[in-house]
Amino acid sequence: MCGIVGIVGHTPVAPLIVDALKRLEYRGYDSAGVATIENGNLARRRAEGKLINLEKRLKSEPLDGTIGIGHTRWATHGVPNETNAHPHFSNGVAIVHNGIIENFAELREELKKDGYTFDSQTDTEVVAHLVARELARGARPVDAAFRALKRLEGAFALAIMFKGDEDLIVGARNGPPLAVGHGEGEMFLGSDAIALAPFTNSITYLEDGDWAVIRRNLIQIFDMAGEPVERKRQQSVGTSFLVDKGNHRHFMEKEIHEQPEVISHTLAHYLDFVGGQAKSFDMPFDFAKIDRLAISACGTAYLAGLVSKYWFERYARLPVDIDIASEFRYREMPLGKDSAALFVSQSGETADTLASLRYCRKAGIPIGAIVNVRESTIARESDGIFPTLAGPEIGVASTKAFTCQLSVLASLAVKAASARGKISADEEKALVRQLSEAPRYASQVLKLDKQIEKVARELSQVRHVLYLGRDTNYPLALEGALKLKEISYIHAEGYAAGELKHGPIALIDETMPVIVIAPHDRIFDKTVSNMQEVAARGGRIILITDQKGAQHATVKTMETIVLPDVPEMIAPLIYALPIQMLAYFTAVFMGTDVDQPRNLAKSVTVE
Ligand code: F6R
Repeated sequence: MCGIVGIVGHTPVAPLIVDALKRLEYRGYDSAGVATIENGNLARRRAEGKLINLEKRLKSEPLDGTIGIGHTRWATHGVPNETNAHPHFSNGVAIVHNGIIENFAELREELKKDGYTFDSQTDTEVVAHLVARELARGARPVDAAFRALKRLEGAFALAIMFKGDEDLIVGARNGPPLAVGHGEGEMFLGSDAIALAPFTNSITYLEDGDWAVIRRNLIQIFDMAGEPVERKRQQSVGTSFLVDKGNHRHFMEKEIHEQPEVISHTLAHYLDFVGGQAKSFDMPFDFAKIDRLAISACGTAYLAGLVSKYWFERYARLPVDIDIASEFRYREMPLGKDSAALFVSQSGETADTLASLRYCRKAGIPIGAIVNVRESTIARESDGIFPTLAGPEIGVASTKAFTCQLSVLASLAVKAASARGKISADEEKALVRQLSEAPRYASQVLKLDKQIEKVARELSQVRHVLYLGRDTNYPLALEGALKLKEISYIHAEGYAAGELKHGPIALIDETMPVIVIAPHDRIFDKTVSNMQEVAARGGRIILITDQKGAQHATVKTMETIVLPDVPEMIAPLIYALPIQMLAYFTAVFMGTDVDQPRNLAKSVTVE
């Protein structure tokens, strides 16, 4: 993960680099650092922890210099301390790196034999030494960088700067994204266009295997054979404004509250509410002509995909294989000519999802992607994209991106059902009408905050929580558990309610809260039986249901959170909110860092 920046500018660059790093902090926040060339020499400031620590450091010890590179880290090799923070130096070479150098152990041994010593535990330091060794062997900076790059295996986005050349940064990409920004007499390099938005909107994305020579008045891009290559220059839509929290305590709270609006925008993009049908939009494949849809994604995005399996199969009679991308990429799934693939990713950069996409590309099947970042690598490598209109999601725990992914998937399920002739025009109209009501119901749920906060206070006292649900509420149970553990650090598990008796029931005692997500749907009574099993063993039930469910649940609960009665299809969009709010308030009670929970990063560009 990690975010990298480079600027060949004409004013002191350290403050600009910090500004760009703020936009990249979502990629990691274990440590940060900046290096510039000051009075002809490499100089750097690094600090453990959040970017704010680096800012403080730079305030007391400012850095001069009109060329520089910067880094915000998500630790892979080596603990997050100052020594392991980037930039790394070796004999006049400074380097920042995002990714993993897979052959670093073997390179390290080789370099040690040549007398190089290592200050850090990182894989990155080998790159600095490799480049320095080429310089020592007489290569000029650009050639030294190129020769070193050819020795690297693994995933990397790199920026390299050289003492003695204040008009040169070498950038390289193999895996993680890297964008070059074009200015007037100044040039930029960054992990994404948003980082560069305050400086320029004119962007060239490097492709895998590309490396670039960046000078104030010149950008040259080469491939791994050393041949010059042309890459398109495009206008980025990245905004130069840093998104703020408004009146909210945390970005996560703000993003939870934005959901009625962003769900509405997203649905309106795909559905014609007046005509009562799915709109016609560019499709990478024809739902009527495929017999199987392979969906893969990671984390919360995977769970959105899992909800959609129920929708596609139920309404469109289209079989769906849904996979966690890190499994899909290696499981060698046979893909026939009548298959299509769909990838779901907020960032559009998740390494495992991207690798799965490339597997499908090799298999020659059409590829669609549901992404929030339209300029991302996954978006660019797909045959067609289905954007979520969530706006920038800053909180590391995904909330509004999830419900927007659900909104797109629900719309696609309607489109598929209609294209495959599995629903009549009237049925399509009814489903579209139901979906159009989702934002209104979502607003109503937000008003339950006081009750949910009260339940969260209880949850903040426990160490373990179980979530149960059936049908589309099963993925929501998984999502509830994921959300709770990632921001409150309370251990939580999600289960299909019917699975309870096959093992997890052994965990139930009077200390175990069990959150049951159960609208009054076709299988409500089955879930009530599971609740009886929990109650009989002293488990404390928190039931999230609707008015009908609350009337019919013949079980004593610790608390019942009553949502409006909503149609079955849109229930996942609505029930997502109370589970997000429950996790949010619990984390606030626990006093954790809600927006930037420990060990996590917003964009996961390593395996
Ligand atoms: C959890 C969360 C993660 C992401 C996952 C995929 O709250 O945010 O599980 O959903 O890392 O990320 P994207 O959607 O960017 O591919």
